[in-house]
Amino acid sequence: MNAKDRLIFPLDVPDADQARKYVRLLGNHVGVFKVGLELFVSEGPSIVDAIADMTDAGIFLDLKFHDIPATVQRAIRSASCLKKASFITVHCDPVLLEAVVTEVAGHINILAVTVLTSLDSNDLMSLGIREELAAEPIQLVLQRAAIAKQAGCTGIVCSGREATAVKKKFGGDLIVVTPGIRPDWGDVEKDDQARVVTPYLAVKNGADYIVVGRPIRTAPDPVGAAVKVVEEIEKGLQDRQQTA
Ligand code: C5P
Repeated sequence: MNAKDRLIFPLDVPDADQARKYVRLLGNHVGVFKVGLELFVSEGPSIVDAIADMTDAGIFLDLKFHDIPATVQRAIRSASCLKKASFITVHCDPVLLEAVVTEVAGHINILAVTVLTSLDSNDLMSLGIREELAAEPIQLVLQRAAIAKQAGCTGIVCSGREATAVKKKFGGDLIVVTPGIRPDWGDVEKDDQARVVTPYLAVKNGADYIVVGRPIRTAPDPVGAAVKVVEEIEKGLQDRQQTA
């Protein structure tokens, strides 16, 4: 995999025209385009086909499914566009994950969302998570990563702060996808991300893929920003190999 292939760009835009604009602009600079709730809800499943027809980059359908297992299984069965996606996300819940893994039968990579990168220790505590786990989100991430592995998921989503521990414990058994990326050189206003790291550090810590949205989308030169992120990925990979 090239460094570029590890960069996931979220198409967090309200309509197909804007999505196409970013696919055209960044098609040669990112490895995977992510379709999330905003675009999927506004345009429907056909947007996945439209993007797949425009690019050789992979598609990640990030709908973060979370419901009873039978409902999610049926949603996946009725979404034929899922076949175009290389990754889909499901919240970490043991019975749900097992049902989804059985449903897709190895055709799509299932990523389990462990602990959203927008949550910090105080948020976790207010959600009723035991204090010792909330104080160290890493422990919660490891616990949920074990559930994902047991269920047969391809990987997990966690922050770059937890990537090292996950890789140390699960190695190549789980791929790690890391959002909450904030380069030193970027400036994202009114930010909702809490557990953030730079592209370099996320990759050096073991992330297989990083999700970088606003630092590229809101940059004065999005292509230039994507190129800089890929340079950081390259550097992170080099330093990771040296310390391995
Ligand atoms: O880089 P930026 O903060 O703009 O990235 C936002 C994207 O990352 C959104 O598409 C969001 O769904 C995704 N994300 C994620 N998992 C998290 C946090 C954010 O997939 N834990």
